[in-house]
Amino acid sequence: MEQALYGQGGFYRRGERPAEHFRTSVHASPRFAAAVARLLAEVDVLLGRPGRLDLVDVGAGCGGLLVEILGSASPELAARLNPVAVEIAPRPADVPEAITWRPDPPDAVTGLVVANEWLDNVPLDVVEQTPDGPRTVLVDPATGAERPGPEPSPADLEWAERWWPLREPGDRAEIGRPRCAAWASVVGRLERGLAVAVDYSHVRAARPVYGTLTGYRDGATVAAVPDGSCDITAHVALDACTAAGERAGASATLLTTQRDALRALGVTGSRPPIEMAHSDPRAYLAALCAAGENAELTDAEGLGGFGWLAQSVGVPLPESLRDG
Ligand SMILES: C[S@@+](CC[C@H](N)C(=O)[O-])C[C@H]1O[C@@H](n2cnc3c(N)ncnc32)[C@H](O)[C@@H]1O
Repeated sequence: MEQALYGQGGFYRRGERPAEHFRTSVHASPRFAAAVARLLAEVDVLLGRPGRLDLVDVGAGCGGLLVEILGSASPELAARLNPVAVEIAPRPADVPEAITWRPDPPDAVTGLVVANEWLDNVPLDVVEQTPDGPRTVLVDPATGAERPGPEPSPADLEWAERWWPLREPGDRAEIGRPRCAAWASVVGRLERGLAVAVDYSHVRAARPVYGTLTGYRDGATVAAVPDGSCDITAHVALDACTAAGERAGASATLLTTQRDALRALGVTGSRPPIEMAHSDPRAYLAALCAAGENAELTDAEGLGGFGWLAQSVGVPLPESLRDG
């Protein structure tokens, strides 16, 4: 997975544009960026409007989220805002100069960190329960053919026991330890502020028995063959990341769904009243379009079912999230 995504010539390393292969909330609607901008405004207040407000997008893809937020910021906010895209892929030519583009997160952050669909692309190993006990699954990178490999490391076994216990032969666990470490390193860099991870996720009480490893290419799901031709992703054990973030210094946590988080931030899918179609057809159409986009972002069977993990350091969680 590491080689296929980030190695020489890997899917992301060579600069594949996520929007050409799958649809994230960022591509679905600018209303997602508007909701994040609202969260940023709350974080800004909690921090006492610092002279430099960091906005870090980890796994920024094409940078669309930062471009939207920067574009709609007031001149006062834009003057203090330090937008940083953390992205392994090369910087697209159309990203404004005001946005810093770098391959690794900054050492110290005061502000808001957002990681939308980043953790599901952090490479992991799969362990399968066999009649001889748990085994790390080995994959032929050319064909995707799998076979049982060595016993997992003690650290992987410990993680599985705590977060994804295997019961029957054939059961599989996607060992989310690298995601926990990746998330902890983000929270650990927060001096003061909020970090939010948004992703396909599951919790211990409802892990998918056979795992979620999936490939994406050109908008379709394909076999997860790690040959560099497709995106390879697996849902995120966000409850495990929560514990890792707390160990890394998070002082407050909220684990919720995108549906609830976005509703708390004012994104609702309710349609405009039909009378408006007669009194103001243009406004009606605009409101209908907004409602459609909001409905997609909050659809419990789709993007709305994503997990939102919000953890703060040195400040309380923003009130809208606490109340939502
Ligand atoms: C699924 S895309 C999400 C893009 C964007 N956040 C969005 O919502 O449209 C995941 C991105 O994370 C980037 N990525 C993954 N691991 C990374 C890492 N360790 N450092 C920087 N970028 C990373 C990949 O290159 C890819 O562009």
